[in-house]
Parts: sequence; structure tokens; C-alpha cells
Amino acid sequence: MADTEHFEPVIIGFTCNWCSYRAADLAGTARMKYPPNIRLVRLMCSGRLDPTFVLKAFSGGADAVLVSGCHPGECHYLEQNYKALRRFMLLKRTLVQLGIEPDRLRLVWASAAEGARLSEEITKFTEDVRKLGPLHWNTSIEKASKPIVDHKLEEVAA
Ligand code: FES
Repeated sequence: MADTEHFEPVIIGFTCNWCSYRAADLAGTARMKYPPNIRLVRLMCSGRLDPTFVLKAFSGGADAVLVSGCHPGECHYLEQNYKALRRFMLLKRTLVQLGIEPDRLRLVWASAAEGARLSEEITKFTEDVRKLGPLHWNTSIEKASKPIVDHKLEEVAA
């Protein structure tokens, strides 16, 4: 537990240009506070989120990833946020396979007017990730691949 006491998580936030990025901007101009742990990456739409962006964020040292886009039915590119939702669900399962807690990935819908809500969600997510502790990506990969490697070694030995 001592490891997590002074732990400052690094969170990458993929935001949609038309809603959540503007919500973050609104939070900033209205001086609403949220932890500086999040680094926002602006995409034109949450549907632009390639699953490899998330995996690359984790492998590059992120402890958690937030994906945020327009509310369902309000995407500027019609139904792309539904695709983002499907990718999010798939990514959750992929993280489990990799031995990474799926709670390190979160999806938040936020309109451009919801600066207060987005800042609350970021604050809550940061606290939740702080409780999870740092992500040791390499250790997680080793743990996930160990049963496969052991199985292969048993096959070779037999
Ligand atoms: Fe915002 Fe598509 S334009 S999620």
C-alpha cells in the first residue's frame, strides 16, 4: 500500500473535438478544478479512437485511459460514438486478457456544456486509479503470457 500513498497516476484522455474537449475547455475557462493527472488528446470524434491508441498509451506508461465523446444520439458524425462504445467493450475484454484491470479504462459521455460533470468524472477517475496503484505494464504482460509459455514448454517436453 505504501507504493500507492504518494502515487500520481498518469491518465491519457481521448476526447471528441465537438463535445468532451469543449467540456474540458469550459471547465478550464470557468476555473473548475480537476486533477492535473490527465493529458488530453483531441480526436475529431470518439469514433476515431483506434484500439491501438489505447494499448499504445498503456504500453507508453499510462496508468489509465479515459475515452470521452458526445452522448449517444448526439455524435456529429451520426453513429460513430456507437462504434466507440463497441471498441470500448472490446478493449475492456482485451485488457483482462493482458492481465490489466479493466477499470483502468473508462468511458464518459459529456456534451460541450457539461464542463462541471466532466471535471467531476476526471476527479473521480483519478481517485479510483490512485486506489488501483501504478500499472506495471511489463509485469502484467509477463503474468498474462506465463500460462501460455508454460503450456508450450510442457508440449515441447512431452
Ligand atoms: Fe463527438 Fe462523434 S462527434 S463523439
